Amino acid sequence: MLELRDIHKHWHDAPEWPLLSGVNLRVDAGETVALLGASGSGKSTLLKIVAGLEAPEQGSVWFDGVDITGWPPERRRFALMFQDFALFPHLNVRDNVAFGLIEQRVRKAEARDRAQAMLARFGLAGHGDARVWTLSGGEQQRVALARALITQPRALLLDEPFSALDAHLREQLRDEFRERITEAGMAAILVTHDAQEAQAMAQHAWTLREGRPQPLW
Ligand SMILES: Nc1ncnc2c1ncn2[C@@H]1O[C@H](COP(=O)(O)OP(=O)(O)OP(=O)(O)O)[C@@H](O)[C@H]1O
Ligand SMILES: [Mg+2]
Repeated sequence: MLELRDIHKHWHDAPEWPLLSGVNLRVDAGETVALLGASGSGKSTLLKIVAGLEAPEQGSVWFDGVDITGWPPERRRFALMFQDFALFPHLNVRDNVAFGLIEQRVRKAEARDRAQAMLARFGLAGHGDARVWTLSGGEQQRVALARALITQPRALLLDEPFSALDAHLREQLRDEFRERITEAGMAAILVTHDAQEAQAMAQHAWTLREGRPQPLW
């Protein structure tokens, strides 16, 4: 279980304006929580605090009963996926997916085998040798998810993962992503502007307003 307790954050260029003022949030394993809210309301900042890329001024982040607030990002073993998913253009599709394993010092041959198996589960078995830029936007997004999931992260943090895609593809991918996330059984936070996307993917949703999450469902 992922838990935020009383998170506070100001930015120094606007010290009188609290961005996050007492955020409490709980995400159980296997559950997706959606976070909506106006542009500039602090959604991405909150996700960065969960990831360990920003520190809160006050409050704490917990995972399975352990206070991880001071932990660096790599120790948390959370996967992040942003809108500009940043696949590596110089690597083929298989090596993009294998990347996280190789970073964890899994042998290259084994990492590639596991990446290939992952690609097969994502309907991309025939694309392993392809350069990433030859894939469609939706295929690239699936590669990004495969890459995020292969290291079996403890939580998945998604920041508007589909906003660069057209409406049709978005609809198709949200169902696929929901299935993969449920199957992986991890806690997930989905930041989105799209209420329908939240409906389709999340069991609970909050909107961030005046520094606090207000319940939607
Ligand atoms: N590193 C930073 N230093 C100073 N201000 C920042 C920093 N990062 C974000 N901000 C400010 O904090 C506010 C919230 O930004 P954030 O990116 O969290 O919003 P958001 O809800 O994700 O918005 P959007 O929906 O547009 O992505 C913005 O006004 C932004 O300019
Ligand atoms: Mg944002």
